[in-house]
Amino acid sequence: MERKKQVLFSKEEIAETVKRMGQQISDSYGNEPIVAISLLRGSFVFAADLVREIKTPTNVDFMTTSSYGDSEETSGRVDIVHDIRTDVEDMHVLIIDDICDSGHTLKAIKEHILKKNPKSVKTAVFLDKPDRRRVEIYPEFKGEVIDDLFVVGYGLNYGNYYRNCPYIFAFVNPEDDE
Ligand code: IMP
Ligand code: MG
Repeated sequence: MERKKQVLFSKEEIAETVKRMGQQISDSYGNEPIVAISLLRGSFVFAADLVREIKTPTNVDFMTTSSYGDSEETSGRVDIVHDIRTDVEDMHVLIIDDICDSGHTLKAIKEHILKKNPKSVKTAVFLDKPDRRRVEIYPEFKGEVIDDLFVVGYGLNYGNYYRNCPYIFAFVNPEDDE
């Protein structure tokens, strides 16, 4: 049986939010070059949109971190499967992720990047779920704040699917309708 979807952010709403974030980021760095690091796989869609809204000179690199797999609960352990290739010493670094949930991923990656002696490290996420936070991390740039809800689309997966869905939705339980 097809599960019902509740659309949280349409393609058009997402585009507006990303544009606003790009402006904030451009205003914050001005003409100082940055290294934008997209965390794979979840942030690939958001990062591709966001970097095109940033006017600051931007070098783009990628990191692969371990994620939930097929489960919805975080283990708290973050593995770096593939590190960046760019030398970020004395550079402004912007870490880009799809969502900040428990915060384990962003905190661990921020600490990992700080060991490379950058000029600064900030984080940008499309979605923030502050009620789920287990560790202290506050993304400097965030698109939308949401409740404790498992969301899918715009890079976010359910099982191995839906990353290519252009809008963000949650599955609705049929019992919730009654
Ligand atoms: P963390 O718990 O903040 O470390 O988030 C780890 C990762 O879990 C994120 O980068 C996402 O890829 C994934 N994740 C967290 N919440 C959701 C969700 O609601 N839907 C899909 N993936 C999620
Ligand atoms: Mg992720």
